[in-house]
Formats: sequence, C-alpha cells, structure tokens
Amino acid sequence: MNAYDRQRIATLAQSQGADQAHSLPAEVYANGLFTVLDRTEVLQRSWQLVGHQSQIPTTGDWVVHEVAEQPIIVVNTGAGIQALHNVCRHRAGPLATTSGHGKTLRCRYHGWNYHLDGRLKSAPEMHTTAGFSVADHRLPKIKTAIWQGLIFVALKDDVPPLNEVTAGIDQILAPIDLTTMPFNRRDEFIIDCNWKVYVENYLEGYHLPHVHPGLNQLLDYKSYQTQLSRWHSHQFSPLEQSEGIYGAGQAHYFFIYPNTMLNVLPNRLQTNQVLPLSHNRCRVLFDYCYAEVPDLASLIAQDQQFSDQVQAEDIGICEAVQKGLNSGSYASGPLCMKREAGLHHFQELLRAAYRQLMEAA
Ligand code: FES
Ligand SMILES: [Fe+2]
Repeated sequence: MNAYDRQRIATLAQSQGADQAHSLPAEVYANGLFTVLDRTEVLQRSWQLVGHQSQIPTTGDWVVHEVAEQPIIVVNTGAGIQALHNVCRHRAGPLATTSGHGKTLRCRYHGWNYHLDGRLKSAPEMHTTAGFSVADHRLPKIKTAIWQGLIFVALKDDVPPLNEVTAGIDQILAPIDLTTMPFNRRDEFIIDCNWKVYVENYLEGYHLPHVHPGLNQLLDYKSYQTQLSRWHSHQFSPLEQSEGIYGAGQAHYFFIYPNTMLNVLPNRLQTNQVLPLSHNRCRVLFDYCYAEVPDLASLIAQDQQFSDQVQAEDIGICEAVQKGLNSGSYASGPLCMKREAGLHHFQELLRAAYRQLMEAA
C-alpha cells in the first residue's frame, strides 16, 4: 500500500460520534483495495459461521465451505467438530468438494489419505521418495467453536472468544434454544453489490415501509427497535398478525460482526452469511432450520415464499445502491440515528479494523 492509500484510509477510519454520523465514503464499497483489506483485516480476523452441527451428526460426516478465499472442511472427528484447511499437503488438492461422509479424508487429486483429525495416514507410492514420512504431514487445524448449535471458525488466532462475541444473545433468546432447530436446507444468492452494502441494508429498518410492503405488515414498524452490544446488534419487533405464518411472538434479527445474521421467528431460524466475491459482487447463503412442529411442511413452504419475496426486494435495492456508489456522483451522506444506529455500529467496527491495520503498519 502506498503512502497516499495509507493517508486516505487513516482519514476515513477515524471514529465518528453519533451526533455527526455519516456513511462510509463510496470508495469503501467501490474500490478493490478494500476488498483486500476486508479479507485480511475483517473476515480473517473474526468468527465466521460455517453451518449447523445437525449437518454433521455422526463421526466421519463433513461439510465444505470457503471463508475469505480459504477452502475449509469441517469434520465430525468422533472427538468433536474440527475445521481443517481443505488443502492437501502434496500439491494443494481438495479433500472434498461437497459435503460427505467417510472413515478418512482422501485427496481427490492423487489419493493421499488423512485421518479425520487431519493427520496424514497414507500416501500412494510415496515410499519411493527418499526421506518421506507420513508423520511429517497433516492438514492444519482451524480454530473452531460451537454456540447454540452453530459452528463458527476463525482463521487467525487473535479473535475474541466466541462466547464474548455472542455475549447476551442467549439471555435474549431464552427460552428459545437454537440447537433444537436442525438444518433443513441452504439457498444461495449471487448479488451484484459489495458485501457491506448487503450487510448495511440488513442493519436498518428505515427502508422497511418503502422496500418491503409485505414485511411491513407483519412487523410493527413503530415498535421496531435496535440494541447494540460490543460485537453484535439486535433488531426486534413484535409480530403484528398472531394468525399469520409464524403466529404470535417476536421477530429477532441478530447481526454478529462482521457478516453473520440470525433471523429468529417462532420455530424457525434462518442464518445469513455474506461472503465477498469482489468489490461489487457477493455471495449470500441462507440456511433454514426449523423446530419439530405439527404441520412443518406448511410452515416451510410459507416461510420460503415470504422470505424469497423479501430477499428479491432487498437484492433489487442493494444492486441499485451499488450502482449509485460506483457512479462517482456520491461521496457520503448523513445517517438517521433513530433508524440507522445498527449500521453506524457496524461502520464503527469496520473503522476500528482499518485503524488497527494503520497502527500495525
Ligand atoms: S494434491 Fe493431494 S494427493 Fe496430490
Ligand atoms: Fe430489507
């Protein structure tokens, strides 16, 4: 990074008080420099959701994932759930390209075979190579933690403990226990916007009456609130229609910095992971998990239809916003702190991550 870039980042990374809060400048969403910074300073230095433990219930089950351009395999080893780099020590082949099950992990390129915990077990014909020993090779482990049945990984060691990041959510959720809502299915969306545009759209209910007429009928906009914690924020609203799809109760929208969302409605958890692909494209994963309830099929069908509608509305507005950010006609604008406190909170955490880089340099 040159001195000019360094100065620009140091300026935009200064903390902003709520009384003068402006959005981050357009270049943060439109310049590839920030794609690199977000990968190394934000996504690799934070807890990343990879799935639900119900996806790998028995010894030898695995799922594959990709976080911050790192291929990962998450394995039920029999002694717990462990994430490993999905990169063979021979010539970087994959151990798996889809979820699966086996007694060992066998590389798909030349067949090196690993124990479930990542130790190399055997390697075809390698006894012909002088000095080779299976004991010298293993798939590196990745820091793994489970909370409320959700599996998280952290690529770097200098992350706060996961229970510190999620502190307070259990108490808000109780008596809801997310471990009792097993994984049902995953939907994937490729969206033409910077990952932070999608996250920020999630973090404010300000757009609700304008973008989501259907969702606005379900939620009580006047009672819609946002509470901030150190590493997460919580938006919530009572459900207005007790006879609706979800019945009576609360809608909880938890955002866990930097790119995980937990949308909790009665008997249903939907997680969102927002994964950058480039400065103006991201991949969003929706995992649906449901409690065992009578007429589950009907809940799933109605939930899918409703969620698809809301997501289509969000995709439309996010892609239009990205065009606005790319246009050169916009630099930054004032925030509505009554409705955009969660967005400001996210931007302050980003500014802190960018500052940390400047201080370390
Ligand atoms: S790359 Fe894995 S065995 Fe060759
Ligand atoms: Fe929305």
